[in-house]
Amino acid sequence: MPAPRIRKAVFPVAGMGTRFLPATKAIPKEMLPVIDKPVIQYGVEEAREAGIEQFIFVTGRGKHVIEDHFDHAYELESLLSAREKTKELHGLLESLPNTGAVSFTRQQKPLGLGHAVLCAQHLVGNEPFAVVLPDDLMVGQPGALKQMVAAWREIGGGVVVAAEEKPREETQRYGVIAPGPSKGPITEVLGVVEKPKPAEAPSNLCIIGRYILPPEIFSELERRERGAGNEIQLTDAMARLLGRLPFHAVTTSCARYDCGDKVGFLHANLAVGLARPDIAPALRLIINALRHSA
Ligand code: UTP
Repeated sequence: MPAPRIRKAVFPVAGMGTRFLPATKAIPKEMLPVIDKPVIQYGVEEAREAGIEQFIFVTGRGKHVIEDHFDHAYELESLLSAREKTKELHGLLESLPNTGAVSFTRQQKPLGLGHAVLCAQHLVGNEPFAVVLPDDLMVGQPGALKQMVAAWREIGGGVVVAAEEKPREETQRYGVIAPGPSKGPITEVLGVVEKPKPAEAPSNLCIIGRYILPPEIFSELERRERGAGNEIQLTDAMARLLGRLPFHAVTTSCARYDCGDKVGFLHANLAVGLARPDIAPALRLIINALRHSA
């Protein structure tokens, strides 16, 4: 029997983005650009690098521009072609997923991340799959999801989450892991708690926005139990798989930028800009000038 593969990735993008208002009143936060690419496109490229073939977006009202972004823009393409802007045209065409590789479904009410993942059940079916929260921009080579898929194969399946150590005072923003033994970047997970107060957190090892999940997660999500913030939490459904399936956290070698947060988003733009040869020299001059005037 061939080894199972992770072929599908779910991108839950139905959140309201209230931390970014008023910018996100009419524009989905996933379409805000880091330098010249929308945040969502980085996530899709990372998934593609990890071998993902099917890209499933869970959207909500006002998110149709995400669909347009992953479709042909005929007027623009013919204009670029007529003006012989070949580089720009190729850039646009290269970023398009293959025919039939993209699907969209709607989360009709923003009832939480777990509920958003449940909305993709009919498109995922009965196979292991990845979940990518595009807000968490992961920068590094190999990409974060590729590192996780390799770990998932090494372990032999189950649940694999990406994790990062955070300052204790920040545990209330994350799912937090009760860690077991570690081997290199892979840590066994003994328990998970969603958004605990720092004093109640089992560690400072926090789950960040990449997951590999078995199809068994759906029967847990179908219970639709409300957790922290009265939302249907993915962490709670994962916790119910503990003891039944292997559960591990991977600390990837990538840098993470929280683009759902204003300062995290600025940080991402600076870091990605400073790594780009076409942007870095001018950006460095600006940063130096600002430093001297501050
Ligand atoms: P966040 O916790 O960042 O929530 O969601 P949010 O609503 O998008 O943003 P703020 O806090 O109001 O600024 C984490 C991820 O889960 C998705 C979001 O789109 C984001 O990718 N999500 C969250 C959903 O798809 N549906 C939900 O009901 C909640």
